[in-house]
Amino acid sequence: MAILVTGGAGFIGSHTVVELQNAGYDVVVVDNLSNSSEKSLERVKEITGKEVKFYKTDILDREGLEEIFAKEQIDSCIHFAGLKAVGESVQKPWEYYNNNIAGTLVLVDVMRKHNVKNIVFSSSSTVYGTPKSVPLTEKSPKGEPTNPYGWTKSMLEQILSDIQKADPEWNVILLRYFNPIGAHKSGKIGENPNGIPNNLMPYITQVAVGKLKELGVFGNDYPTKDGTGVRDYIHVVDLAEGHVKAVEKIKENPGLKIYNLGTGIGYSVLDIVKSFEEATGVKIPYVIKERRAGDIAENYADATLAKEELGWVAKNGIKEMCEDSWRWQSMNPNGFED
Ligand code: NAD
Ligand code: WQD
Repeated sequence: MAILVTGGAGFIGSHTVVELQNAGYDVVVVDNLSNSSEKSLERVKEITGKEVKFYKTDILDREGLEEIFAKEQIDSCIHFAGLKAVGESVQKPWEYYNNNIAGTLVLVDVMRKHNVKNIVFSSSSTVYGTPKSVPLTEKSPKGEPTNPYGWTKSMLEQILSDIQKADPEWNVILLRYFNPIGAHKSGKIGENPNGIPNNLMPYITQVAVGKLKELGVFGNDYPTKDGTGVRDYIHVVDLAEGHVKAVEKIKENPGLKIYNLGTGIGYSVLDIVKSFEEATGVKIPYVIKERRAGDIAENYADATLAKEELGWVAKNGIKEMCEDSWRWQSMNPNGFED
């Protein structure tokens, strides 16, 4: 039996395929390559020594998915496929709702037709909106995401929960990621954003490699220790291991489960700049800019539940996250285009 990994050619997906293969799972990847390259899967093979079965298929393509489910012996799905650029989602809400929500509805419908009712879903700390207090536990109230992307995550959590409630044969694990950074230790796979990065770490690594002049720090007047935004950065390999734990859990027929995946430590933007400089010896010039619309001051996780119920904890600290992000970027200055 195999695990279907939608979006498996992407940043978190490719790292998860490595950890699944290392743990002995057979993996089938479905990705339309709208935000990724098939080269990531060639690199996965270099790392694990195992072939990755890959279908270039859109999750909105019902017939395409039907064929895959008819051909492959799938028992669970890890569902990463989705569009994820916050700013773009404000400009293109229809595209985001269609791709992320309609895509998931097609996927889940094909799954149930083939009696595959185990799904691990990529959710996000964005579903908490502006936190009333930190750290965030899974019991913290969901809030109002500030953009359509965030709403797709919040709505899909609701949709999958309702589907599980109506049919208890479903097992649904919602994983709320905090801020994934870092890369595989080999430097062979990593985050490969199109154009100018929106997220902090890829921006920093592109400044470090000389592709961008300086970092803009979005606001230094937040009510945080140094005025810059505080987030819970988590190493992507730790996150990938969290998915392996989740597919183990799903075999126990847990019904609906929700877990935060974070380290529990909040770092400010300036902490990250300093940690990156210390870990790599590369100086990051920066300027303070206006706050970015939609940003919150601070969020970080309480990940105790994942520790207790999945036996999962993040092992890598900020030094490793910076070192590994830099190894990937410096070995692949143009991502997978090199
Ligand atoms: P990514 O863009 O690298 O990976 C997503 C993959 O899905 C890409 O390979 C893309 O080509 C594919 N895809 C998109 N739409 C598709 C469709 N209709 N059919 C088939 N494939 C499709 O992003 P990532 O950072 O690896 O994120 C993976 C998941 O985790 C996403 O759902 C994202 O929203 C979620 N998430 C990401 C973060 C983050 O900061 N990176 C945080 C929280 C949650
Ligand atoms: C981190 C901090 C910025 C870039 C986003 C999504 C969230 C989740 C993860 C998917 C903030 C500051 C950033 C820059 C900066 N994704 N920053 N200069 O906004 O916490 O989360 O990615 O689910 O939903 O919203 O991540 O990396 O963009 O920002 O000063 O050039 O870095 O203001 O404080 P964010 P980020």
